[in-house]
Amino acid sequence: MCGIVGYVGMRKAAPILLNGLKRLEYRGYDSAGLVTVAKSGSRRYRVVGRVQNLDKLVKGLDLPMTCGIAHTRWATHGKPNETNAHPHTDETQQFYVVHNGIIENHEKLRAGLEADGAHFHTETDTEVIVQLIAKFFDGSLEAAVEEALKHLEGTFGIAAVSAADPMKIVVARRGSPVIIGIGKDEMFVASDVSAIVQYTDQVIYMEDNELAVLTPGDYQMMSFDHKPIQRETFQIDWKVEDEGLNGFPHFMLKEIYDQPETVRNACRGRMNVSEGVAVLGGLQSKMDEIKNLRKLIIVSCGTSYHAGLIGRYIFEALTDLNVEVELASEFRYRKLRLDETTGVLAISQSGETIDTLAAIREARRKGALTIGLVNVVGSTIARETDCGVYCHAGPEIGVASTKIFVSQLVILNLMALLIGRYQMVSLNEGVSLLKALNRLPDQVSDILARASQIDELARIYQKFDNNLFIGRQTHAAVAMEGALKLKEISYIHAEAYAAGEMKHGPISLIDENFPTIALLANDASYDKMLSNIQEIRARSGPVLAITYEGDDQCARHCDDLFRVPQTHDLLQPILTTIPLQLFAYYCARYRGTEIDKPRNLAKSVTVE
Ligand code: F6R
Repeated sequence: MCGIVGYVGMRKAAPILLNGLKRLEYRGYDSAGLVTVAKSGSRRYRVVGRVQNLDKLVKGLDLPMTCGIAHTRWATHGKPNETNAHPHTDETQQFYVVHNGIIENHEKLRAGLEADGAHFHTETDTEVIVQLIAKFFDGSLEAAVEEALKHLEGTFGIAAVSAADPMKIVVARRGSPVIIGIGKDEMFVASDVSAIVQYTDQVIYMEDNELAVLTPGDYQMMSFDHKPIQRETFQIDWKVEDEGLNGFPHFMLKEIYDQPETVRNACRGRMNVSEGVAVLGGLQSKMDEIKNLRKLIIVSCGTSYHAGLIGRYIFEALTDLNVEVELASEFRYRKLRLDETTGVLAISQSGETIDTLAAIREARRKGALTIGLVNVVGSTIARETDCGVYCHAGPEIGVASTKIFVSQLVILNLMALLIGRYQMVSLNEGVSLLKALNRLPDQVSDILARASQIDELARIYQKFDNNLFIGRQTHAAVAMEGALKLKEISYIHAEAYAAGEMKHGPISLIDENFPTIALLANDASYDKMLSNIQEIRARSGPVLAITYEGDDQCARHCDDLFRVPQTHDLLQPILTTIPLQLFAYYCARYRGTEIDKPRNLAKSVTVE
């Protein structure tokens, strides 16, 4: 949540800051702002809404300064208006701060500063930081920031600049990501590499309780208690081209169409088909511990949680592990009994979700082995888990997760197979799963080639304001994901239930204006699903069925139908997901919503 970016070097800062903000906008888009600093007078611009508004505001202005910081906001404290937009400044307008996170003790700090005579101008928690810096400034910006940090409780990634020392940015991190980018005679800072990857591929990931001073071509890092820190630079393997729309109208659609390739990338080099085993280098160093695990707890949020729910069935089918799935936001507050025979698997696209991060920290403290399943290379969860596997799906820009969900499901299969081959899975079973994985990209392409059918179904169904998604077993979790996708981007109300629950309450909702999207699989649950569909139809509820090729019964019982290819049982949820992603996308398009940046959401949830 909230994106920060900063630049100090030889080039004009403003265009670099604006480019960075555009790439960070998926972290929040309530307001945006930037400041470029100079002794002769700093220039601050802030707008409500999108970065493009800021772009329009500064277009054509002469901003020669070569140092500045910028921010795109997802409002936590204070309305998303111009006054509350970052960067914030003190009364002398000498210091400027951008902040991502939440200062929990801001009210107390504010009262103290006001008692000392400070005047506050915003409703934000961030303003206390800049007021504290101004209060403690005694000639050195870094010393003032260091002193201010001692008073802050909560989470922050911050960047601070001063007009008195205009070729310096001081950055600090506790709980919210801060990445330093190293260029030639120039330095960058951002909350996400995507903001700076077009300028440098050499980055340093700051850890919690670290501060850094950036000047052109140089940086110094230290702990909050002033111990110098040396850290290796990390080479980013993304290219800016990975982030283009490639002719698609929205990133979400592009990312849905990326999926044949992202499935291949998730599998590449990770399958030994003749041995029926998965090869996951990121787990290798902890394989002895992994083999001895008795219990696996999967922790995650949102779409990644839905992947975890499906993961439970996958691990149960392939391993001897007892598997639990927990919302990270709940898990972290539970009274946990964990030990070294428990593995905690954190699933996260961004690798920065604060609840998931807190969950694995709690798990580590209690002695569990922590495993990451993460897309963003070098992200905090990737770094803080004992071992893990990357999705290698490239950046996901659309706020609604699509391709990463599918990658997560592929890798959950590979992880479970890796463990399962030491346990109950036979060679033949392993080979059959891997062969099915090999066929998967073409099957995904087959569905995408029929996207126009889904478009037509969406045209019909988007007129309903309420929907139910039902399925059984893994498909109950797919139903949850389908409902989440629909509501988050089209704002159409959707609920998901395990179909067996219908008679326990939800069926009372059904009438001719309340359609059900029913997900069927070729397994033991099929007949029961068919009964559920008939019960809904008997109450005049429209039914759209997503079923498998070869199902010749369902068509008689539903209003509309889409068939997906058949695959291995454990992979079927992947194929059922694709039409649901398209369905949500087209419904949103008919409704005219902002598909890639749905209201009130941000891509990376770094506050609790
Ligand atoms: C929904 C969506 C979110 C994320 C959730 C967790 O489309 O993207 O529900 O899945 O915020 O994010 P990560 O996976 O980054 O931990």
